[in-house]
Amino acid sequence: MATTEALPDSPAIRVRGLTKSITTPSHRVDILRGLDFDVPRGQFIAIMGPSGSGKSTLLGLLAGLDNPTAGSILLDGEEIVGLSEDSLALLRGRKLGFVFQSYQLIPTLTAEENVLLPAELSGATGNPERRAKELLDSVGLAERRDHYPVQLSGGEQQRVALARAFMLAPPILMADEPTGNLDSTNGQHVLELLLTMNRQEKTTLVLVTHDTQLAARADRRLILRDGVIVTDELGSTHD
Ligand SMILES: Nc1ncnc2c1ncn2[C@@H]1O[C@H](COP(=O)(O)OP(=O)(O)OP(=O)(O)O)[C@@H](O)[C@H]1O
Ligand SMILES: [Mg+2]
Repeated sequence: MATTEALPDSPAIRVRGLTKSITTPSHRVDILRGLDFDVPRGQFIAIMGPSGSGKSTLLGLLAGLDNPTAGSILLDGEEIVGLSEDSLALLRGRKLGFVFQSYQLIPTLTAEENVLLPAELSGATGNPERRAKELLDSVGLAERRDHYPVQLSGGEQQRVALARAFMLAPPILMADEPTGNLDSTNGQHVLELLLTMNRQEKTTLVLVTHDTQLAARADRRLILRDGVIVTDELGSTHD
């Protein structure tokens, strides 16, 4: 399959007319109602809004985990709407890291094996073992690499999930309330790791959060309400 190289001027993410509706026999729910926005490369954008406003639905669409009803999504200049499952899986492997609120580690694999998994699934060459060790070290878990998820605290599990998301050095990282299940100390630690990656590796960071203090550290805040963007605010208000 031919791979399209990213156009140098294309934004990390371009969204046009993005619509998601769900129809049941009795009624239709319009979850997202025609969103338009661009995320420049390297930007840290926080997506906020009340429960049910469409944040997770939007992130799932951006990651190609769900299909929109209408509209277009370009990741690094490549249209993802309408791609086959196989093409989407390849594109996700090259471009995207994803972190969930509930960590989603594989319980039968150690911390290190979880971090190595994306390299194994993509058949990455080089020295993935060394990178996995470096990543576990950078999230402060070098000593815990042989531990299984059940032997780790929530904050530790989320740090393993971050190391795993960064394994293939994705240009874009998406996270849905990654600190939502953590206490404020652990949440702060996970946020600092995300900010370090965003700055050092110029990773574009899309973060869904309810936490206004956390969102204040972002370059930009997009606030959804009933499936539309009601606020698009630039500037870190606290650093
Ligand atoms: N498969 C579905 N069928 C019907 N309605 C759905 C479905 N998925 C999502 N919704 C509805 O779409 C709306 C947006 O859901 P979404 O999960 O995106 O909200 P959210 O902003 O992430 O909320 P939260 O802050 O609680 O996580 C909600 O009203 C939800 O009930
Ligand atoms: Mg949600």
